[in-house]
Amino acid sequence: MELFEAIAQRRTHRGEFRTDPISQTDLDQLIEVARWAPSPFNTQPWQFLIIREAAGKNALADLTARCVAEQFKDPRFLDDNSRWMRLTDAEWQQRGDGVRLTDHVDLPPMLRKSPTKLKPLLKNAKNLSILGHLGAGKMPAKEMAELIRTSPLLILILMDWTRRPPGEGGQRWMWLGMGAMIQNLLLAATALRIGTQFVSAPLERQRDRERIREIFDVPASSEIITLLRLGYVDSMRGESVRLPPSSFIRYEHYTESVSTPAN
Ligand SMILES: Cc1cc2nc3c(=O)[nH]c(=O)nc-3n(C[C@H](O)[C@H](O)[C@H](O)COP(=O)(O)O)c2cc1C
Repeated sequence: MELFEAIAQRRTHRGEFRTDPISQTDLDQLIEVARWAPSPFNTQPWQFLIIREAAGKNALADLTARCVAEQFKDPRFLDDNSRWMRLTDAEWQQRGDGVRLTDHVDLPPMLRKSPTKLKPLLKNAKNLSILGHLGAGKMPAKEMAELIRTSPLLILILMDWTRRPPGEGGQRWMWLGMGAMIQNLLLAATALRIGTQFVSAPLERQRDRERIREIFDVPASSEIITLLRLGYVDSMRGESVRLPPSSFIRYEHYTESVSTPAN
């Protein structure tokens, strides 16, 4: 697959993957592209914990289920989330950002037809958290856990603090290098017809990251950056939206509202 095609086709896969394991050849290719990412001072601070066995998957699935259920009860988390939740396709397309609620939560049948009924609730995170206390988070928690449990491959991505580059900005540059590395991996996965999904729920809170550290014996010198689930998919197709360039491109001065590049 050509590079531009892979960039355009890459999508977050929130559903099930095919059950066949990722071949060692493909995994080696993912590792190879990660290796060639840029990093500050060529420090290459990344580390991968590759999880293929049930024990590791189950531990992460159980932790994720607990985290998701707890997040549904947390008004601050819900309030933060609601800003980026789009209730309908039309709203999502029109705004060009955020995520569709229905991509993350399986709504009960009565709400599926008219999800806008949720609008007043989303405006008041306290009400939503009451639903969480009544068990509304249990289903999404169970579903997310199942997706993790059945993923052919999980990669826990770590950053090695002992490879910190010099200078006041060292930490920032390290994070940027990690992002570049992860994008290499996502694009190569797309080219190999491997679907990917970030799984952030079990990494939101420090105490949950500490739990992961204990489970996998990750040393204090390594930061837990992200968790990816991966598996082959039959179709790379999936919907997504983006803001138009005009919303984030500035020429010459930040405050210039409308300007075109000089030819
Ligand atoms: C750092 C980071 C964390 C993310 N965490 C999650 C996540 O926990 N669950 C999820 O389904 N998608 C997650 N995503 C995927 C974004 O929601 C997704 O990239 C965005 O909605 C655009 O969709 P697309 O990737 O299909 O184009 C994450 C993406 C990034 C870069």
